[in-house]
Amino acid sequence: MRRIVLGIETSCDETAAAIVSSDKEILANEILSQFEDHAAYGGVVPEIAARSHVEHLDHLIRKALAASGIDWPRIDAIVATGGPGLIGGLLVGVVTAKALAFAKDKPFLAINHLEGHALSPRLVEEVDFPYLLLLVSGGHCQLIQVEGVGAYKRLGTTIDDAVGEAFDKTAKLLGLGMPGGPKVEAMARKGRAGRFSLPRPLAGTPGCDFSFSGLKTALWRQLEKLSQQGGPDDEDIADLCAEFQAAVSDCLVDRTGRALTQFTASFPDHMDNTLVVAGGVASNMTLRQNLKDLSAAEGFHFVAPPGWLCTDNAAMIAWAGLERLAQGAQHAPDFEARSRWPLDTTSKPQIGYGKRGAKV
Ligand code: KG4
Ligand code: ZN
Repeated sequence: MRRIVLGIETSCDETAAAIVSSDKEILANEILSQFEDHAAYGGVVPEIAARSHVEHLDHLIRKALAASGIDWPRIDAIVATGGPGLIGGLLVGVVTAKALAFAKDKPFLAINHLEGHALSPRLVEEVDFPYLLLLVSGGHCQLIQVEGVGAYKRLGTTIDDAVGEAFDKTAKLLGLGMPGGPKVEAMARKGRAGRFSLPRPLAGTPGCDFSFSGLKTALWRQLEKLSQQGGPDDEDIADLCAEFQAAVSDCLVDRTGRALTQFTASFPDHMDNTLVVAGGVASNMTLRQNLKDLSAAEGFHFVAPPGWLCTDNAAMIAWAGLERLAQGAQHAPDFEARSRWPLDTTSKPQIGYGKRGAKV
């Protein structure tokens, strides 16, 4: 049966609505980034983000419906990101989805944002389970064995900052503005890695966990030195960006290499092993190339969704919803948005365990 769903994403600073079918047709994919609303503050301000979602979501949903040519009777379900993320934004998306589901008499389903990223490559390519996923975004950095829809085993996670967060903080330190990742990548293209020396935290150590906070501090020290010498000039900044990007990529490749070995040990009879990279940082071209090389060396297929599907969007939420709906999933109207919602609930949290549960 061909299903069509409306997907809604409001977990951070992108307001998005998409209409996607179970036979992988993306009928509409509307997205509004709030970069300008937050630029003056040097980072995402949760209250501003929530207000902006309230102001724009209705309009984006109307736009998505108009662009798709699909009317309400043909929509089979309404799917929204239910967590993890900024609670104000999540509430806007979840309440809107529930209200529409009630008014139009449709099923409602909340999706874990990380599951949206995790299943996103299946929307555009044939990727069978199981596969190894490197999930690299503004809020997360994890290696996950994706064994099926709803079956996720975490092999590693960050013990401090997320990788996108490290890019964003680096951009801020260097005065490059938002969004940090693309700005650092653009500067790195003009620079030379190796002129400055930054550490590769945890590289070469056992396990698959990540650490990025030391890298940021080391970069700050280099910057201090340069400013004592009257710098930094544009060339210094470009070289720092190139070295930072190389260091991050080396760390990600080192940890992913270990996870590939673990994956092969978990599925010794599985042919056609696949490594998938997803999340906003997966749009980084240096990282993609280095992961591609690693995959080739280890005999893995390498899949990286197109850039528009790596950064936050509602098409991936709609798709994850379709995968869940095929299993009969649905949420009751009393579902509550969750700022924390780990994908693998059995793994020990590394950081951020509190009253609201594990952070990642
Ligand atoms: O997945 P995403 O859109 O939102 C979250 O779920 O967090 O990821 C956003 C993150 C930001 O930290 C952004 O700086 C980073 O992805 N990012 C990049 C690039 N494009 C986005 N990092 C490095 N290189 C890029 N080209
Ligand atoms: Zn995301």
